[in-house]
Order: sequence, then C-alpha cells, then structure tokens
Amino acid sequence: MRTSLLRSMESVRRSGSGSVPGQLLRRSFVFSASTPQRKVAILGAAGGIGQPLSLLMKLNPLVTHLSLYDIAGTPGVAADVSHINTPAEVKGFATEEQLGQALEGADIVIIPAGVPRKPGMTRDDLFNINAGIVKSLCTAIAKYCPHAIVNMISNPVNSTVPIASEVFKKAGTYDEKKLFGVTTLDVVRAKTFYAAKAKVPVAEVNVPVVGGHAGITILPLFSQATPATNALGDEDIKALTKRTQDGGTEVVEAKAGKGSATLSMAYAGAVFADACLKGLNGVPDIVECSFVQSTVTELPFFASKVRLGKNGVEEVLGLGSLSEFEKAGLESLKPELKSSIEKGIKFAQEN
Ligand code: NAD
Ligand code: LMR
Repeated sequence: MRTSLLRSMESVRRSGSGSVPGQLLRRSFVFSASTPQRKVAILGAAGGIGQPLSLLMKLNPLVTHLSLYDIAGTPGVAADVSHINTPAEVKGFATEEQLGQALEGADIVIIPAGVPRKPGMTRDDLFNINAGIVKSLCTAIAKYCPHAIVNMISNPVNSTVPIASEVFKKAGTYDEKKLFGVTTLDVVRAKTFYAAKAKVPVAEVNVPVVGGHAGITILPLFSQATPATNALGDEDIKALTKRTQDGGTEVVEAKAGKGSATLSMAYAGAVFADACLKGLNGVPDIVECSFVQSTVTELPFFASKVRLGKNGVEEVLGLGSLSEFEKAGLESLKPELKSSIEKGIKFAQEN
C-alpha cells in the first residue's frame, strides 16, 4: 500500500505543475485514505484572486480543511465553494474576531489580501495600504498559527515579505524556512511566452525566474530554459525578458482600471501551494522559484529555485550559470530590490 502510494506520489511529482486542476481531481482517488490532515487558510478569499484560488484549493486532494477569510463577503464564497464534491471541508470567516479561528491549526496560510494596481501605478504605489494589511494579518499568524508556512501574494511582494519577517521576528516566531513570496506567476508567464516563441510544447517548458517581483527585479533566466532551442536570437531573448517583466502591467492595462491578474495568479498560487503541500507531505525533489530569505546574493531576500520539504525551505538553490545579458540584469536589479526590502523592514520596525 505504502509502496503504491509512494509510486503514485512520484508519478504526480514527475508530471510537474502544468495541469493542476485535472491532476488534482485525478489524485483525489489516490490520496483519500492516507493523506495527512492539512489545513490551508486563504486571507483575502473573497477577492479577485481569492475566489478562484479558493476554488482551486478546494479541488486539491492534499487539502483536508479549507479556511476562507476576508473582511468582505466570505460567507457567500465559502458556501459556494463548499458545495463542490471534493473532500476538503470548507469554513468561511468574515470578521476580525473570527480571524483566530480561521488561522488556528493552519499548515499553510496564503495571503492575497490587499488592493491591486490600476493603470499607471507601480506595485510600490500599493505599499501604503497593503503594508498595514499584511502587518496585521501576520501579527495574527504569529499568534494563532506560528508554525504555518506563509505564501505571500499581496504586493509589493519585494516589501511585504520583509514586513512579514519583521513582524514574526518581533513576535519571536520567525522561521525563515516558512516564509515565501509567491513569484510563481512570473515563472508561469515566462514558460508561456517562451513556449510560444520557441515553438515548443508549453507543458514541457521550464524557465527559472529569479530576483524579485516588480519590473526589472523580475529576471527570467532564458539561458537555462528547457527544452533548449537555438531558434531564439539575442533580440528575441531581450523581448521575452521585457514581456515577462511587464506581464503584470500588460494585464493591468488590459483590465483598464478593473484590477490586475487574478485568474492566472490564482492558478500560480495554487501551483505554489500544491508544491508546499507536497513538500510538507514528504514528496521528494519539489523545486519551485520563490522570494525567500537568501544568501544567494548580498541581498537578504531573493527569488531563486528553492527545494521544498517537510519544514518548508529545504535548500535555497544557487543561480547556476548566467549569460552576459542575465549577469547585467542581475546587477541592475539589485539597487531597486535592496531599497524595496529596506522599505518593508523599516515600516515594520517603526509601526
Ligand atoms: P481584490 O481587491 O480583488 O481582492 C483583495 C481582497 O482582500 C478583497 O476581497 C478585500 O476585502 C480583501 N482584504 C482587504 N483587506 C483585508 C484584510 N485586512 N483581511 C482580509 N482580507 C482583506 O485584489 P486582488 O486582485 O485579489 O489582488 C490582491 C493582491 O494580490 C494585490 O495586492 C495584488 O497586487 C496582488 N497580486 C500579486 C501577484 C503576485 O504575483 N504575487 C499577482 C497578482 C496580484
Ligand atoms: C502581477 O504580476 O500580475 C501582479 O504583481 C499584479 C500587478 O500589479 O502587476
């Protein structure tokens, strides 16, 4: 039984993160009897990202308890999602008084709470509102589920992750292995754009994306993309890099004032949370890019490939060999990323 479960887990792992919902549904038959109890809490569950992310997490058979919290409209979202005939037990929490209950016992807390961009704004323009939201939610996490893995989606990720780290340090609960800035959407975009340009099957594509999650701090490493191709010249790589860096803005402009990426982000958030769950459950060799505490560069936080395990980060992987173009990109991103990190730390220390 155990051998066949491990075999199934391995086949799921090998199949990668390309077709989450279909795999999630199929896997429910494999895991229902022996899967560990895993509670996932989503803070901001009624929002543009929160709703489809709640749906995708309800489809994930590794989730046994799904806790949906928002200050606006959660009972409706929770009631709706709870009717889906998958095993996860869904509960909705709508007021700040219920935040503790929403968080208690959570293994993973996903945070898409906060305001999104409108055209003309940078992610940093969201700092003034979202910094406070993230700080108060992380204060509650420190109190009610100090050992949970945190997946930070709220922007600006380059600052909200350092804010979270400071809040946890102040509370004496900081574990650098358990705090993740979700940069999976950058990887999802890089894979999609590369596959289209290189004319290779998108499901087979892998592209690491390092640095941070804003403009030029997003650095896709197309020199390491697989399957490799000689079909792309320097100008193609430059254009692919720029499109990946501007992917969020492309959506913000297309939505013309009605928010930023929600559906692709929900997909990316579900992929990353699924990887964290697999890591927690002991599935070997789960590697995703994420913005984490790091010594890969001189900056205290940096996105790179991370091996996930039973305690969160098992290993932060290095950058590998970079092209001259990528080396230059790496040097240019450092000042902006450094100042966004420092801004987050300063905010948390002073507030
Ligand atoms: P949205 O406005 O549609 O939803 C945000 C939700 O957060 C709302 O339902 C709101 O009620 C809720 N909320 C606000 N304050 C809260 C609090 N204190 N506690 C609980 N819930 C609270 O926004 P959205 O489109 O879902 O985007 C959410 C955030 O995600 C934004 O900051 C956006 O920039 C960011 N984002 C990040 C990425 C990424 O790649 N990391 C991608 C897309 C969007
Ligand atoms: C994205 O990359 O889509 C998000 O960070 C949202 C945004 O503001 O661009």
